[in-house]
Order: sequence, then C-alpha cells, then structure tokens
Amino acid sequence: MRTVDWDDIENSVKLIDQRLLPGQLKIVACHTPQEVAEAIKSMVVRGAPALGATAGFGLATMAMNSTARTRTDFFKDLQEACSILQAARSTARNLSWGLERLMKFASTSTLNLDDLRVEILNEAKKLADEDIQINKTMAEFGANLIDDGDTIIHHCNTGALATVDWGTALGVIRMAHEQGKALHVLVDETRPRLQGSRLTAWELSQYGIPYEIISDSAAGYFLFSGQVQKVFFGADRIAANGDVANKIGTYMLALAAFDNRVPVYSVAPKSTVDLTLANGRLIPIEERSQNEVLGIFVDGQSVSPPGAKARNPAFDITPNHLLTAIVTEYGIIYPPFLENLRKFLT
Ligand code: MRU
Repeated sequence: MRTVDWDDIENSVKLIDQRLLPGQLKIVACHTPQEVAEAIKSMVVRGAPALGATAGFGLATMAMNSTARTRTDFFKDLQEACSILQAARSTARNLSWGLERLMKFASTSTLNLDDLRVEILNEAKKLADEDIQINKTMAEFGANLIDDGDTIIHHCNTGALATVDWGTALGVIRMAHEQGKALHVLVDETRPRLQGSRLTAWELSQYGIPYEIISDSAAGYFLFSGQVQKVFFGADRIAANGDVANKIGTYMLALAAFDNRVPVYSVAPKSTVDLTLANGRLIPIEERSQNEVLGIFVDGQSVSPPGAKARNPAFDITPNHLLTAIVTEYGIIYPPFLENLRKFLT
C-alpha cells in the first residue's frame, strides 16, 4: 500500500491518515484541492516527498473536475488550486516543486483541454512512481555508508510514510537491513508530534529492524558515550550551500554528533534541494500551533499550567559544516556542498 495514491474509480487522492498511526490504519479520500490542502495542514499526510506527490495529485483533482471551457479559464482554475495547495505548508521544497513540475508540463502542452486534463493526472502519477524509484536509488547509495553492527540515531519519520513508498533516510537503513547488515536504530521520539515513536518505530517493527525509542534529549548521551556510529535524517529543504532544514531537533542532534566525531548524513532527493536560496537562513520555517507543545499529558496530568504559552517551530536549520555528506539519487555528495550540489544536480 502506498502512502499517497490516486483512485481512478473515485477520481480522488487516497492518503494513509498518519494522525491515527500506530493505533489505526485508515485511508482518507480527498476530492478537491481544498480537501487535499486541509489534509496537508492537519498532518494526515506529511514528509517532504509525500507532500510533493500529494500536491501533484491535489492539482490533478482540479484538472479533472474543472468546468472551464476555455484554456484561459482552465489555467485560472489550476493557478487557484496551486495557491491553495502551496499555502498548506511552507518549509518542504517538494510541495512547490511538485506543483511547478505539473504547471510547467501543462503550460507547455499543446493538447486539447480534455486530453490535457488526463495528461496532467498522468504526470502526477508519473511523479509519484518516480518518487519510489528515486528513494530506492538513494537507498542503494546510502546503504554503502552503513557497516554491519552499526547503531544509528534517526530523527523524525523519513520512511515509506514520509514518501510515496520506501523512504529516504529510513529507506537507507531498510536497504542496509535487507542487505543482511545487523543494525540497531535509536529512534528519536521527535517532539512535539512524535513522528519518531509513532511512525518510525511502527515502520521499523514491520521491517523487523531492531530499535529502541529514545527521548530527543537523550541523543547527546548516547553519542558522547560512544554507543552510536552514525546519524541519519532526511530534509525538507536544502539550500545551495548545503544547509539543511529538517524536523525541529535535527540541529541539536547534528551538533552533538559533530562534537563526538560521529558521521552525520542527510538523505534527500534533488526535488528537496533549492538552489535559489543561498543559505539556510533564507528557508521559510513553519511555526505550528502551540497546542502541539502544550497538549501533552503525562500520568493523566497536563505538562503545563493553565494559560501557559509555547513556541513551536516545526523545523530548524542544520548548518552545512555539521554534515558529513548528503545522499541523493545522483550519489553521495561531500563538501564543499556549494560547489558539489550544483555539480551533481544541474
Ligand atoms: O512535519 P513533518 O512530519 O512533515 O516533517 C517531516 C520531516 O522533517 C522529515 O524529516 C523530512 O520531511 C524528510 S522525510 C523523507
């Protein structure tokens, strides 16, 4: 089953509802760009590559359902859908990349309107299919970085659930496991939404990969005490100089790994790289509701007093000097990232 898929019978986008995992595996259907945008905002679907594919299918719902009779009106509808989808989340480059890819395809096509609708949908399907292939290629490159017996810290969820299927950083770990390497994963629980303990641990248990969940703040202890050989995470956007925006907590993890000379790898497809931004400070960082931080209960008790306020940036920036390499479908890219990202990816 794919995380993101198209239903040809209903003409709808089918999404695994990630808010309900690991307790319940439920599929939701979205029929309009508005419904897709709401699913993205509310985290039914999340993870940068999954957002790219979902946005593509979201645009396809408009292409298939638009009542426009003229090309001008049709493109007005598509533009409106793009604005709705683009506004859903701001940090992941893949979301705008998916929309840009489909809009470029549509605007350069000479097909008549009825054929164009179907071809936009086909292009969205192609984008989704390619995502799986790209992940497997990255996984093959990245698995070479993992040695038999490694203990790896992994942050957030970067597995099949964060992509159409297979995964980025977790895909690398999965590939190394399939190659027969003995691995142990320390899963950062990833506060405040707990993508690590809810989603990554769930995926690892399905793949039969040994793991233990740790609180995010325990990572420093495990790194300092020599119990970890590698750190792997994904990326939501990578700037031209190799600075990486990823789930909040990644920066502190990379700092602690760097200080202990433990290699740090970010795994992401070309569609996550934004060569238009010179460095990570220019990447927009989404700030989510304070309820995600305050709404945690321990032993039945709220963890904050009534009226408490919170800040909740969903991502942080890991500066390029903390990274050992970036794994892409074009190979493993080492510093200097400013030079090498451009060399590999253009
Ligand atoms: O807020 P989320 O769950 O969408 O954040 C996801 C991440 O930060 C992932 O690490 C990133 O998208 C890479 S996933 C392949």
